[in-house]
Amino acid sequence: MIREIEYPDVEINVVRAKEPVEATILENYIATAAGSPNFIRHITFDLRNTPLEGKFVAGQSIGVIPEGVDEKGKPHKVRLYSVSSPSKGENGEAHLVSTTVKRVIDEHWETQEIYTGTCSNYISSLKPGSKVKVTGPSGKRFILPKNPQEYNYLFFAAGTGVAPFRGMVMDLMDAGSTNDIALIFGCPYRTDLLYKSYFEDLNTKIPNFHYLKSVSREEPRGDGSKYYVQYQLIDNRELIEPILKKDNTIIYVCGLKGMETGIYQILAQQGYLDYLRVSDDLLTKDPSTWSWDDIKTLKPSDRMHVEVY
Ligand code: FAD
Ligand code: A2P
Repeated sequence: MIREIEYPDVEINVVRAKEPVEATILENYIATAAGSPNFIRHITFDLRNTPLEGKFVAGQSIGVIPEGVDEKGKPHKVRLYSVSSPSKGENGEAHLVSTTVKRVIDEHWETQEIYTGTCSNYISSLKPGSKVKVTGPSGKRFILPKNPQEYNYLFFAAGTGVAPFRGMVMDLMDAGSTNDIALIFGCPYRTDLLYKSYFEDLNTKIPNFHYLKSVSREEPRGDGSKYYVQYQLIDNRELIEPILKKDNTIIYVCGLKGMETGIYQILAQQGYLDYLRVSDDLLTKDPSTWSWDDIKTLKPSDRMHVEVY
């Protein structure tokens, strides 16, 4: 049985949506490679001289309030973006906080015209020097524990879900972690491997860091199906199983809503019930006989954190 995991006390809601503060955009550059159909940007906010300076830790989110009003004439609501900088701030500067933002582009429900998500497109278009209304920090559970170097980690990310793990991995490198850290990252195309050179470099240089990529639309599994992050639990079992078996391993899942279910399913099939909260009723049945409806009742245990949106 794992000992109780302690988490640091972090500040939340220092700045609320009713009274946002102004940050300045320091940098805003495309993070997807040429030819990608997706537009994902690395955006750094300068929070100097605001109460938010030095307040964010990796895993928390920053709120952004887009300019203008919605269809009903009301001011836009705040949207959250995971911080992708380390807890010390981007480049170690406490007043700099970065995010990783994907432009939401869809077809309008009624008009069939192109629908561009309000906030993601608003901030993605801001140039360095622009002012933006921000709030936060938000979130106190999706963070690294106290003494983070004492644990092993399995980080599952889909798309911009990699944002908090960039910051967390930087924190772990800073803490001199020699325990296992596996980042399992899923994206549609090879052009969308966010922060690829940083993670590939670590993979080469740091023996305890493992970078596994699941490129869903270009690198199918052996059976021709889409490669989703959860299938790495099966296809890379040799690497992952010894990590899962350690009693000081924590799983973090971030990204697309629904991605957690596939991870729960395979963990249950492989017998890793420590990471899950399973109802007493379900515990009486062999996991291999669980139906999809059974799987959907699973929740993460204290050893797994899930942030999906
Ligand atoms: P909105 O305009 O709010 O639209 C939201 C959704 O509704 C879109 O999918 C859009 O397609 C659909 N929609 C709305 N109206 C219509 C319409 N008329 N016709 C068709 N479709 C419509 N996002 C990131 O990019 N990076 C992150 O790191 C990140 N972290 C997050 C962390 C947390 C804790 C949470 C809760 C969310 C996070 N998000 C992140 C998501 C982010 O908060 C926004 O939800 C996202 O950017 C979309 O906001 P938007 O204003 O651009 O879209
Ligand atoms: P796909 O879209 O090919 O089905 P992004 O947010 O940038 O689109 O990336 C999300 C990634 O997660 C994509 O590769 C997407 O694959 C994949 N994905 C979609 N559905 C799931 C799911 N249920 N579980 C895990 N990954 C998923």
